[in-house]
Amino acid sequence: MLPKRRLARAGSPDGGAISSAPSSARFPGVAIYLAEPRMGRSRRAFLTRLGRSKGFRILDACSSEVTHVVMEHTSAEEAARWQEHSLMAAPPGCTHPALLDVSWFTESMAAGQPVPVEHRHRLKVAEPTKGPPSPAWMLPYACQRPTPVTHHNTSFSEALETLAEAAGFEGSECRLLSFCRAASVLRALPGPVTALSQLQGLPHFGEHSCRVVQELLEHGACEEVERVRCSERYQTMKLFTQIFGVGVRTADRWYQEGLRTLDDLQGQPQRLTKQQRAGLQHYRDLSTPIWLPDVEALQQVVEVAVVQALPGATITLTGSFRRGNSQGHDVDFLITHPEEGREAGLLTSVMCRLQSQGLVLYHQHQHSHCGSPAKRARHSHTMDAFERSFCIFRLPQPPETTVGDAPRPCPAWKAVRVDLVVVPISQFPFALLGWTGSKLFERELRRFSRKEKGLWLNSHGLFDPEQKVFFHVTSEEDIFKHLGLEYLPPEQRNA
Ligand code: UTP
Ligand code: MN
Repeated sequence: MLPKRRLARAGSPDGGAISSAPSSARFPGVAIYLAEPRMGRSRRAFLTRLGRSKGFRILDACSSEVTHVVMEHTSAEEAARWQEHSLMAAPPGCTHPALLDVSWFTESMAAGQPVPVEHRHRLKVAEPTKGPPSPAWMLPYACQRPTPVTHHNTSFSEALETLAEAAGFEGSECRLLSFCRAASVLRALPGPVTALSQLQGLPHFGEHSCRVVQELLEHGACEEVERVRCSERYQTMKLFTQIFGVGVRTADRWYQEGLRTLDDLQGQPQRLTKQQRAGLQHYRDLSTPIWLPDVEALQQVVEVAVVQALPGATITLTGSFRRGNSQGHDVDFLITHPEEGREAGLLTSVMCRLQSQGLVLYHQHQHSHCGSPAKRARHSHTMDAFERSFCIFRLPQPPETTVGDAPRPCPAWKAVRVDLVVVPISQFPFALLGWTGSKLFERELRRFSRKEKGLWLNSHGLFDPEQKVFFHVTSEEDIFKHLGLEYLPPEQRNA
């Protein structure tokens, strides 16, 4: 959607003389006229506001200035008749505008600029319509289907993920999940959605998510999503929850108390935990993505510290990078040793080594609180009970990067969020599966286990509550097998 203020400024199509004046247009060679016959008044008014809000010049009357006439559901013959009739008054010698289908307009809205006119945009002689693209078919749980890193429906999935995030900010877990699941279905589709009919029969596509996709297909933008993205509430909650150590509840409390900016928070350090103060101090670095070369450099230094502290111990990269993403917001490592029990005390020793190298800006040690196996089995949330350290590392950066021919100076180091998790080898496959994510993939996997198999799965184990037994496994593949699921490699778990 468009922010209310901008909508008001854009005015109505009937009274839009100010906003359609050439000086306000970003694309001087383009003057659009939306021809109403098949479009309908309210749709024309909406498209006019949308176009103007994006800087397009949209004329209220069809004059000789018009370069692009946009029509909907109109054949070339009809358009030609309309043109003859409406441009009769045009002075001789004036070039006729292009007669275009509304698809040119919606693609231009989505691109934020006029797209080149292609043959397919021009109004055509009516043909018998081919059937719409056939609906896709999909299994309902995200853990039952491959989801690669890159996919074909980014603009739709991002819109739904914005609504999911906003629902999360309002504490509406149910709505958050619905939007996340619908977005995840789109990520798993083998091709782009080009018609609403393709969504028919897809799991988790309720009326609301369908409407969002429909608006994007028709207008190149969704009013509700645009409104959310521009709202003070969404922007502030996003800003606050991006601070290390700040969850939705804290962000909401600050918002209710009138806080809006990082400066507002900086002015009240007594309100912040030690973790949040560190998060705020390194906000800029921590809110920029981490790239693969940084991850590889980190892995090397941590690995050396781990092996020096306990020969034979290993570290494994998990999280988004194990799923094949080239960027992420933190780096997650699992540490273990092939002999059960040898991992005890290892983390303290590793952290000491890293600290003495000046690599640690902040760390918080959390002791293991695994308790009895039965207690562990009931841990159904993402928060598990392993010993771990939440850290901010000081990662040295190469002295300069070259942009074109000119070398650009770089800061000497960058703050990076790292989680180090210590796992006893017997639980390692479960921890690896649990920490590889994505978050939705994990949720769906646990839901599938419980609802379809009657088994409890978490990062510690797989438990049969009827037989009261834990399954013994040696790999992630084993876990998929026990659950009767086809194995999905990490790169296909980007649900
Ligand atoms: P992350 O929050 O690190 O997400 O959790 P990510 O997928 O790596 O993405 P970015 O790039 O960092 O944002 C990684 C996985 O570890 C699980 C989460 O559920 C997720 O699947 N996790 C995280 C836990 O199991 N326990 C935790 O305490 C935190
Ligand atoms: Mn991560």
